[in-house]
Formats: sequence, structure tokens, C-alpha cells
Amino acid sequence: MQGLEGIKVPVRQSNQVCPIHGTRMVYSDRFPTPFCEKCQLEKTLEEKKKFDQVNSIKIARSNLKRVSLVDNPDEYNHAFDNFEANEGTKEWQMKEAARKLAGKYFKDRTAQFNSIMYGTPGEGKTHLAMAMLNAVNQFSEPPQKCLFINVTSLFLAIRDSFDNPLERWTEKYAVKTLSNADLLVIDDLGSESAMSAKKGEASQFVQRILYQVTNRQHRIIVTTNLTLSELRQTYNPKLISRLLAGSSGSQLDFSGIEDKRY
Ligand SMILES: Nc1ncnc2c1ncn2[C@@H]1O[C@H](COP(=O)(O)OP(=O)(O)OP(=O)(O)O)[C@@H](O)[C@H]1O
Ligand SMILES: [Mg+2]
Ligand SMILES: [Zn+2]
Repeated sequence: MQGLEGIKVPVRQSNQVCPIHGTRMVYSDRFPTPFCEKCQLEKTLEEKKKFDQVNSIKIARSNLKRVSLVDNPDEYNHAFDNFEANEGTKEWQMKEAARKLAGKYFKDRTAQFNSIMYGTPGEGKTHLAMAMLNAVNQFSEPPQKCLFINVTSLFLAIRDSFDNPLERWTEKYAVKTLSNADLLVIDDLGSESAMSAKKGEASQFVQRILYQVTNRQHRIIVTTNLTLSELRQTYNPKLISRLLAGSSGSQLDFSGIEDKRY
């Protein structure tokens, strides 16, 4: 018989018949108990299918840490559980709002709306954005491909790709990867404009990428230090219009929270 791995196993016909397939069962010196070759093949294929399913779930869930661009890997640990907030405070309001939005992305994987978290530094925007992503990544069944992209890290990686052929973050790769995620965080939008020689100019490629991504991707959580009107001044209005599309119920204003970095 031709085994699944292509190894020929010499078998002899027994006089027992498989009750399922009605064919003669076989045996060999190594496997003296008669067995059905068809049943055996079906069992092997079933095991392979299960193995592939488990593997593809693992691959989808590991997307977050494998592909994301973070400022600092410690940020992967941000969760709702380690976000401190006393009831009634602004932190508490933001946490509850973020939790509700995460619930919407989690429950309905076809829900198309962007969320925006804006305010001054150290207020917990990145923490809560990662907490939302971690929750969806951990609990979605089947998994949702989650991706966290810090805009400055993206800017630096793509600039590197211009003269480093080993850098995987080319413009094309970025558009494809950000567009294909099931849930995307764009962290610290606006921070890349400070990296440009002439303000706003060298970050043109980031705008170009984000414009293409917002045309295809409608499940984006943005964090930024810019106000909504500053966003409109900094970026192409078409980009901002797409970014804010359907976000009327999902704009979180963090202002008033004190800087947790001090
Ligand atoms: N309520 C909180 N409970 C526990 N840790 C917090 C809380 N708020 C902020 N932090 C921590 O403080 C640090 C700064 O928070 P975070 O990075 O989320 O701020 P941010 O609003 O994104 O700031 P920036 O605008 O500068 O990016 C992080 O280490 C974060 O985990
Ligand atoms: Mg931040
Ligand atoms: Zn059989």
C-alpha cells in the first residue's frame, strides 16, 4: 500500500471486512491486528486537518506580536486589568468607553467604524488602545488579526527601506499589511511630522500610505496628541474625512487627565 508519507508498507489481506467501507482489512508483520486502509487514511487526513486548524489559529493570534511596530515591547502588556481608574474619574470614563468600543469590535467583526483617542501626553491613550486590541486578540473566536502600528516607528522603518533592501516595511508592504488587519491601531498619529526636516514634508509618504489604508480599512483605532481641528490642519482633508468616518460615537477626549509619566 502507498502510505500517506509515500512509504510503501507491505501488507497482506486478512479475511476480515471493514464494516464501514466493506473492503478487506489488511495486516502486516509490524501491525498484526487487521485494519482498514481507507479508515486509516481518513483518520490521518482528519488529524492533519485539526493540526492545520489549531496552527492557523495560533498564527492569527500571534500576528499582533509578530508583525506590529511598537515604540517599546512593554506596551504589549497594556491591558484593562492593569489600567488603574477610580470610579467616577475621567480615567474611569475613558476605560469604560474603551471597553465598550472593544466589545463592539469583538462582537461584530463586520462592524465598520473608526475610533479616535486624543489628548495630551501620558494620559493613557496608548495603554487603552493596546488593551482593546489585546482583548479582541485574546477572545475572538475565530481569531481576528490584530495589528498595532506606532506611526513614528512606521515612518522610520519605511524611510530605512528606501536604501535598505532587507527592510520589510516598504510602502507597498505597509499598505497591504495595515489594510488586511481585522483590527488596526494607529498609535501617535502626528508624531511623525516632528521627524521631518521641513515640517510635514518628509512625512508625505506616511500620508500616502494612510490615505490608501483608510480607503480599504474601516476598523481603525487612532491615538493622537492632536485635536480634531489640528488633525484637519496637519493632514489632507480627504484622509481625515475617511479617518473620522463613522467615528461620531467613538471619539474619546482624554483631556484633563494628568500625565502618568511623572
Ligand atoms: N490609568 C493608568 N493606570 C496604569 N498605568 C497608566 C495609566 N495611565 C497611563 N499609564 C501608564 O503611563 C504610561 C503613559 O501612558 P500612555 O503611553 O498610554 O500615554 P499616552 O496618552 O499614549 O501618551 P502620549 O500622548 O505621549 O503617547 C504608560 O506606561 C501607561 O501604561
Ligand atoms: Mg501614546
Ligand atoms: Zn474502513
